[in-house]
Amino acid sequence: MSDARLTSLGEGKGPIVLQGAMEMEVAPFIKRLKGAELEVYGDFFFWRGTFGTRPLIISQTGIGTAAAGAATALACALYQPSLIVNQGTAGGYGDLAVGDVVLASALYNANARYLGRDGLRFMELGSLEHESVAAMDFPDVPPLLETDERLRYILEAFLKKSGASYRTGIIASSDQWNEASEQIRRIREKTGALCEEMEAAAVWMTAKRFRVPCAFVRIISNNNERGLSFDPSVCEALYRLLKNFLM
Ligand code: 5AD
Repeated sequence: MSDARLTSLGEGKGPIVLQGAMEMEVAPFIKRLKGAELEVYGDFFFWRGTFGTRPLIISQTGIGTAAAGAATALACALYQPSLIVNQGTAGGYGDLAVGDVVLASALYNANARYLGRDGLRFMELGSLEHESVAAMDFPDVPPLLETDERLRYILEAFLKKSGASYRTGIIASSDQWNEASEQIRRIREKTGALCEEMEAAAVWMTAKRFRVPCAFVRIISNNNERGLSFDPSVCEALYRLLKNFLM
């Protein structure tokens, strides 16, 4: 359905790379990949095949920023993708319910922290080398990593049409799992984040170096601010939603 518009997005004609950190997040897609061939590099797994009519590479990145960054660099160097779709679970904040979808308008790297004499601030790693003072000076609101506008526009239109319960907004990304609801409330009020997960910022920063556009779509699997525990069945629900976008 979104074929023509999607192929015109990338610089080249490379395949789409679809990422998921955990096995449960990639398994629904792998099951339906036609002619799937597994390529293994160290502990990084890529399944090449066809989804609908288009070539698709499914990447199981592993959990966390280091694994996600490395898997993204491998994917970009090996397959020259026209775009990357990073998808999977996330912990919702505020009133987000299990099964709600979040499309990232921006991310922030919650790992990038500067502990000054006057407290903890966020840092902008991308400009730390040349603007070291300004890059450390984010006391309240973290510097935002804006997502690719055209991809976001297309996905937003798709989500709207699908009837899915979704929100577009900020995702907090770091090697961190927050369980304390009071702490989460403070993070949410300070940053405006809708949810947290562990890979998106690393994928964003790595793909930028290869000039590959990325979209980030997450489904809420738990909400620790509201005491809703992890429900793995959301992975299949996100598959059912995204398959129509990828076909
Ligand atoms: N906090 C952090 N990461 C989460 N994930 C799902 N829920 C959360 C949460 N509340 C995702 C991460 C990681 C794995 C543990 O699940 O992105 O891949």
